[in-house]
Amino acid sequence: MKYSVIIPAAGQGKRMKAGMNKQFLELRGEPLIIHTVRLFVHDASCQKIVLVANRDECVMMKTLMEKYQLSKVVVIEGGEERQDSVRNGLAYVEEEQIVLVHDGARPFVTDVVIKRLIHKAAKSGAATVAVPVKDTIKRVFSGKVIDTLKRDELWLIQTPQAFKAPLLKEAHKRALEAELIGTDDASLVEWLGHEVVISEGDYQNIKLTTPEDIVFAEAIMQEKERRKS
Ligand code: CTP
Ligand code: MG
Repeated sequence: MKYSVIIPAAGQGKRMKAGMNKQFLELRGEPLIIHTVRLFVHDASCQKIVLVANRDECVMMKTLMEKYQLSKVVVIEGGEERQDSVRNGLAYVEEEQIVLVHDGARPFVTDVVIKRLIHKAAKSGAATVAVPVKDTIKRVFSGKVIDTLKRDELWLIQTPQAFKAPLLKEAHKRALEAELIGTDDASLVEWLGHEVVISEGDYQNIKLTTPEDIVFAEAIMQEKERRKS
């Protein structure tokens, strides 16, 4: 099934403490964002890649796309919050399509996970990749535990998330009007009262957020290369 993907990459990467936007950090000699974009360039079902960049990084992103000969990519300007960046990207997505939103900082999502997700979104309208939580999660206030949550009901939500394009556009429009900011796109659709279906992902689909994630990323890359050879 054909789809477009919006890749938000217009953050600052503050928690990575690299002194620059983490999208440009190199993994195996190539910038992180290249690894992520390439996943979709190689997927024949992907029609268009909307890469959302900081205003002063658009030129650099375009140059990188040319250097690595990555086709199907349009580079556009992002906004203050991730939600603003995704909303800007939605203007470049046609109505009749399935649209995926996938963090620039998640370079390890697999074809299998993407296909399963799209299948679910095409049926239900909205789906997100997720994995079951492994640790016990407690609600804490002022340094004290106030509740222990039921682990079998808890899932870690990742990207990609997939939607029928008109539904996600409507959710973003309504959220803007209501000044609602969600940490992911699915939450905006949930807020509209629309069901969001879980699509099982895998634990390697990490988001590179803090410095130790680089160590995990190197290990995951090594493992993927070993499996290929
Ligand atoms: N993002 C974006 N526009 C923003 C903020 C974030 O496109 N205004 C993107 C990031 O570039 C990243 C993804 O959204 O690919 C997930 O966000 P996160 O991991 O929080 O990245 P940063 O915001 O860059 O990192 P930090 O919060 O540590 O500054
Ligand atoms: Mg952020």
